Amino acid sequence: MKKIGIIGAMQIEINHLKDLMLSGGEAKKTVEGGLEFYSGHIGKNECVVVRCGVGKVNAALCAQRLILGFGCTHIINTGIAGAIKSGLGILDFVVSSDAVYHDMDATGFGYKIGQIPQMDVYSFLADEKMIQTVKKSFDGMDEFANHHLIEGRIATGDQFISDKQKKEKIVRDVEPACVEMEGCAIAHACFLNKIPFVIIRCMSDMADDLSSNGYEFNESIAADLSSRLVEKVIKEI
Ligand code: ADE
Repeated sequence: MKKIGIIGAMQIEINHLKDLMLSGGEAKKTVEGGLEFYSGHIGKNECVVVRCGVGKVNAALCAQRLILGFGCTHIINTGIAGAIKSGLGILDFVVSSDAVYHDMDATGFGYKIGQIPQMDVYSFLADEKMIQTVKKSFDGMDEFANHHLIEGRIATGDQFISDKQKKEKIVRDVEPACVEMEGCAIAHACFLNKIPFVIIRCMSDMADDLSSNGYEFNESIAADLSSRLVEKVIKEI
């Protein structure tokens, strides 16, 4: 039997899914480790929805608790990201092929940026079946007819990227489709526990200069769109 853990960093990233569960009437709230976990059903699937907080440590601790404490068999990370890959615009989507830390730097010992020393893998691979379900769900949603979804690498770090030079360095270092602050930490916890995962991110900004004229940050709408895609994915999974 599947039990799907859904993690968003911020309240706006989980509100829709939490409301959906609460409207079903049977959701149960559990407070553990400073986090509020909502357990119930979305469609026929048993789910646990949680806001993990921003950044890698919050994300990893939350994923570990979902897996060990709540018995989640699958993990979905939903939320916003800064677009990197060319062709990707604001309110387009990325589904993870894999995830890597752009701020893991042991280059002094000959490792490339992103490589965790003494670990067998460079990046953490998302579950192929879950990736396909995300693509199929996206294609089936009329409301996304004017949006794009690409499969690509997610780069994670404890930095909000709003600087062109930092963005360019991340492109050179790890060649991601987008950048955010939790996905790889969740992927890492899933990898160690042998749990399938996928990351779904809707682009809120272009991860470039905050000071530039055209800077846009569409966090609320992007967060909501991502959670609506997750709802469809859970119903199709
Ligand atoms: N999440 C959304 N936009 C982001 C950015 N530009 N950098 C890091 N995390 C983000």
